[in-house]
Amino acid sequence: MAPAEPQAKPFQQQGDAPLFPEERPGWKGYVEWERYPEKKEEAAQILAKYDFPVPPEFQFQPLPDTNPVLEGVRWKYYHYAMGPTLQDIPDISWKYVLKEKSADMIHVLQFPYNGEPPRGRLVETEITPNEDHFVRNHGGIPEIDPEEFFVDVEGLVNNPKKISLKELQDESIFPRMSTTVTLQCSGTRRIEQIHEYPGDGDELINAPWGEGAIGTAKWTGVSLKKVIKYCGGLKEGGQHVEFFGADTYFKKGQVYNYVVSVPTRKMKINEVMLAWEMNDKPLPKIHGAPLRVVVFGYIGARSVKWLYKINVIEDPSMAPVQMKEYLYYSPQVGKHNATYSNGFSIQTMPVSSAIMTPVNHDQIIHDGKIKLTGWAYSGSGWPERVEVSGDGGSIWYEVPYNKMSRKYFHAWRIWEYEMPVDAEGWLEFCVRTWDNALNTQPTYVRSAWNWDLHVTSSCHRIKIYSINRTRPMTAKRLNLLEEKGMSLFPLTRPLEMELESKEEYLAEMHRRQGRDPIE
Ligand code: MTE
Repeated sequence: MAPAEPQAKPFQQQGDAPLFPEERPGWKGYVEWERYPEKKEEAAQILAKYDFPVPPEFQFQPLPDTNPVLEGVRWKYYHYAMGPTLQDIPDISWKYVLKEKSADMIHVLQFPYNGEPPRGRLVETEITPNEDHFVRNHGGIPEIDPEEFFVDVEGLVNNPKKISLKELQDESIFPRMSTTVTLQCSGTRRIEQIHEYPGDGDELINAPWGEGAIGTAKWTGVSLKKVIKYCGGLKEGGQHVEFFGADTYFKKGQVYNYVVSVPTRKMKINEVMLAWEMNDKPLPKIHGAPLRVVVFGYIGARSVKWLYKINVIEDPSMAPVQMKEYLYYSPQVGKHNATYSNGFSIQTMPVSSAIMTPVNHDQIIHDGKIKLTGWAYSGSGWPERVEVSGDGGSIWYEVPYNKMSRKYFHAWRIWEYEMPVDAEGWLEFCVRTWDNALNTQPTYVRSAWNWDLHVTSSCHRIKIYSINRTRPMTAKRLNLLEEKGMSLFPLTRPLEMELESKEEYLAEMHRRQGRDPIE
């Protein structure tokens, strides 16, 4: 693994290596924390002995020009400190990145792995190939044998049960469902907030995502509603469903499994699936095999991977990912006054969109039109209209319906548009989407900046340099460059030839009646 944080001191074990054994045959890398407060306490005491390296500053300073962009040394060391059952997890997880993801992924964070595909390719297909689907992990990747897999259903249900994967897949017990669903991480496009106004770094690095932390798949599994019914239905007071993921998560010196919750009303409308297939293929390990949750329309964080327990409770989960994270603050809330209760818990994703090609700072030679491609998504509905602008948002063009992919209740639409572009030089292109409920996007990043840097749903803006070949001066210059075997690029390098001859200059000056006014 190429280190992106070479300044970190090597890991030094403090005292004897602890042993937190795995409990289940065929469940490698799963340590149960939530059932054992005393084990959590022991782990916290071990963590307290260490002075873990802090991640590099990358908000007030430029991001490293590496891939992986950030390494996550601190998180690797947390795992090393937990002894033999977890110390290999960073390496194992990276092996799955290399095995299951495309070779050209942008590794935003190496461990816990966060990666997104190259911009343009993401919107070539309305269904994202599994290898290109973004990954957002808070810990390592457990290796769970599907033959040994079962999920516990507990809490406020009438008949708590252990259900194996085989039972879930038995169509005489559970009707199977397949739904096309977009998953979007609430960190998508975070880099735009960082560039304008830095915010919380977060212990688990608030990853500097671009526009690719979103993907669409046909998920196959069973509706959680059927599973709860199979367990005798909800007991009185069962208002939320907690999902437990088998990975280990660290927060402020404490150790947890990955746990979040959604309201039971969401599962009652069949918008929560337990899935074992992604695009008609077995769920990849990196995406949560053998079984994961897919919550339609909600922030990706609720779609728990490596699911091992479902617990019906009265109130939203008090686990840190639910209670202390994925909070949306108003712009005057920050390090000085943020609490867990004064931000609202992000659940449904708002309408958002992005231009995927061209990309920011592209310099484009064209004949009066530039092709744009992108995605548009709304968690509470579907995109009805996508509009693009070539002048920062004064004049908007509607993307024609036949240039947008089909509508799904729970998925994005990809789109393309040949934008008329007469102007030259630096231009600001932007996109905004309207969903079926007429929701649209905030105008500027600033309008929706928030301390935890979540949900960058403002109009997506890119700056491109336009070189319009239909303009005579430009055509002439381009031809001349071609004749001389020279290039306009790199744009910032001075031209090696004169801009015009002395004769041309004088003739033109004469036509323009000279530089000086007359008395
Ligand atoms: N489930 C577990 N167990 N652990 C995690 O770290 N990350 C969540 C969610 N489920 C996570 C998890 C977040 S924040 C997102 S955005 C989605 O998984 C990403 O799903 P993907 O990696 O399959 O794209």
